[in-house]
Amino acid sequence: MTITKGKKAKLTLDGQELDLDVVVGSEGEHGIDISKLRAKTGYITLDEGYGNTGSCTSDITFINGEEGILRYRGYRIEDLCEQSSFTEACYLLLHDRLPSSEQMKTFSRLLNQHSLLHEDMRHLFSAFPHDAHPMNILGTMVNAMSSFYPNVDSLSMRESIDLTAARLISKIRTIACYAHKKNTGDPIVYPQKDYNYCENFLNMMFWSPVNNYELKPDRVRALNTLLILHADHEQNCSTSTVRLVGSSQANLYASISAGISALWGPLHGGANQAVLDMLNAIQTEGGDIQRFIDRAKDKTDNFRLSGFGHRVYKNYDPRATILKKMCMNILEEEAAQQPLLDIALRLEAAVLKDEYFVSRKLYPNVDFYSGLVYMALGFPTNMFTVLFTIGRLPGWIAHWKEMVQAPAKIGRPRQIYTGKQEQQYIKIEDRG
Ligand code: SDX
Repeated sequence: MTITKGKKAKLTLDGQELDLDVVVGSEGEHGIDISKLRAKTGYITLDEGYGNTGSCTSDITFINGEEGILRYRGYRIEDLCEQSSFTEACYLLLHDRLPSSEQMKTFSRLLNQHSLLHEDMRHLFSAFPHDAHPMNILGTMVNAMSSFYPNVDSLSMRESIDLTAARLISKIRTIACYAHKKNTGDPIVYPQKDYNYCENFLNMMFWSPVNNYELKPDRVRALNTLLILHADHEQNCSTSTVRLVGSSQANLYASISAGISALWGPLHGGANQAVLDMLNAIQTEGGDIQRFIDRAKDKTDNFRLSGFGHRVYKNYDPRATILKKMCMNILEEEAAQQPLLDIALRLEAAVLKDEYFVSRKLYPNVDFYSGLVYMALGFPTNMFTVLFTIGRLPGWIAHWKEMVQAPAKIGRPRQIYTGKQEQQYIKIEDRG
């Protein structure tokens, strides 16, 4: 959909008055178009961390951070979690419509057809140390895919983006499971023709010749919901990275691999693993949550409460609401994680009453409860950000596709230089 132009914003600079277009999105978001600012005034804007700067227009995901609204292609996240599946949500994000049953069958068949890895890629796994972090393996192997499969970049389109998207969505799950088996030393498990996406995922992760893993429907359902919840989130750090790398006309695999690296950071997707490390630390130290809260408020301590706060949500993250409910249901069966859930609930209750967090509108985000659910499903903590990656992949591809199909320009922000002024070169023998 296009943006509408309406009123003007008036800027007065050095006695000069400048009218700037105001653009309005389909949900009433307003922006000032500064694309001609430097040409007309010589000035640029400065916005560390881009908290006030829109990098693009997009039809994919809408977030209202004040009201805690999240919609993919107009569909509420709550409805998709209750009624859809991860593969249907992938189709929706990629094609901007829910699939017919015929289209869904074709897409599922494509995912199944492309679930195996090129056997030569298996040898790459043996080059990693046994305890390599799965995120490191994932980012490397996705990048390596461009050596094994036809590339899609914005010029060639030698192969349809949608076929490459299906290949990536399917194989990234296989790579993740192989990475886990690399860590455990167990034999890898191949995808099965008769299993759907999440069934294959759980089976490749947990089945072994000596452990006949049972695919329980409630676990398959929980995994679908977890992946749907992570499928997209507009211009977050990793999605912006995928767009920026793709804007240089780098191929899709290279762009996604860059997104994986950005997501790994503990301020972003790595927070779900950091939350479990924090809850375990609180438990080890006797359950004293106040000491951790005090540290998070202490400006001389760079410790932050992982799983709290968000650049956009200044209300409860709607994904955290769904995950908290899932947590309570799933952990009823998994008493082993109950102590950690009790700590999480006490921590949340204390934070939501503490003036430091209330005044800064710091609420639990998607990462606060997701790790507890992953753990209850049997995933080790070093796989939590991998799960986030697998969920987020369709969103990244949808944004890359949206960008390369628009008249995109290479992304190249400006800066304000604050370094030394011109220096005279002095030969080394003349220096002090
Ligand atoms: C994700 O962008 C997305 O959409 C991301 C994501 C997605 O789906 O892609 O939603 C996924 O990354 C969720 C966020 C996961 N990260 C964490 O849980 C890490 C802990 N949270 C923070 O580091 C922080 O809240 C961020 C990084 C999430 C947001 O940082 P901002 O928007 O830059 O906010 P800020 O650092 O400017 O903080 C504002 C104030 C500061 O205090 P003052 O300078 O005003 O005194 O709030 C404080 C911060 O010190 N603060 C925290 C805090 N988060 C912010 N203080 C203690 N603990 C925290 N967690």
